Amino acid sequence: MVDFFNSKELLIDGIGKLKSSKIPSPEIDARILLSYASNFHNTIYMHNNISISKKDKNKFYCFLDQRIHGKPVSRILGSRNFWKNNFLINKYTLDPRPDSEVIIDVLTKTCRNNSNHLQVLDLGSGSGCIGLSLIDEIKNASLLSVDVCKQSLEILDKNAKKLDLSKKLQFAKINWFENTWSQNIKIITQNDKLFSKNKFDIIVCNPPYIKSSDIEKLQAEVKNYDPLVSLDGGIDGCDSYRAIFKDLRELVAEDGVCFFEIGYDLLDNIKIILKEFNFNLIRVHKDYYGHNRVIEIN
Ligand SMILES: C[S@@+](CC[C@H](N)C(=O)[O-])C[C@H]1O[C@@H](n2cnc3c(N)ncnc32)[C@H](O)[C@@H]1O
Repeated sequence: MVDFFNSKELLIDGIGKLKSSKIPSPEIDARILLSYASNFHNTIYMHNNISISKKDKNKFYCFLDQRIHGKPVSRILGSRNFWKNNFLINKYTLDPRPDSEVIIDVLTKTCRNNSNHLQVLDLGSGSGCIGLSLIDEIKNASLLSVDVCKQSLEILDKNAKKLDLSKKLQFAKINWFENTWSQNIKIITQNDKLFSKNKFDIIVCNPPYIKSSDIEKLQAEVKNYDPLVSLDGGIDGCDSYRAIFKDLRELVAEDGVCFFEIGYDLLDNIKIILKEFNFNLIRVHKDYYGHNRVIEIN
């Protein structure tokens, strides 16, 4: 005999459990988790009155339990919506943030109808959300994505396949703290047909920028689930900017632009580093909360 359970009753019970554990958005989380547990293609709402099998009900309660113990919904689902697409994530990738969509928003406005072929470099690509969203928007473009973490490059590859963007993508394991990092990128461009020159028209980067001493103070969902390598920016949060800016000139085309996400409180320090390495600050873009979030430089 197959037991079935009513979705409305499960939702009410799930919301109650999340509420009593002080989970911030119980209604939304319960709806998403029940839909995912039951492989329902749309979000299940109260009015839907769907029959849920015992197996899916058990899955739902298992997900609720993980959520109650602090696991973010995106980590339970193994994916996160970013800009226009859904990106797979794993424990080695940062959970993509809406703040980073600012880069796509600004660049698509200027480049969407570009007739020249554009070469894009994504430094510290993680799940690939920034670079892949860009080449999805800018049709005439190729992308080189690099990251120090092999397992996040595997997820990037899966996301590129899922979005049918693999033909426009090359990727490599690169560590910008190594002396030869920019040379190694040039070697890739020289040997891959996707690239016709060894400099890039657009460089995007969301490096780790949390001050080491602030890591402990982060929300549990961030501290316990985002990998340290994607968060820790060293004593002043700027270690990666210094390492990258030192050799970045080698990789920017003459009329190219670079977009770097920054910590909202880092702008003054970053300005000093930009001066040291002869970069011009063209503009500072704000995130959805009004914080200084992305610098545009050349
Ligand atoms: C803040 S996360 C950004 C990930 C992704 N671009 C996003 O916005 O969701 C920083 C990324 O830089 C990578 N990373 C950290 N240190 C690096 C290094 N020394 N060289 C190359 N990549 C590095 C991390 O593995 C991580 O994927």
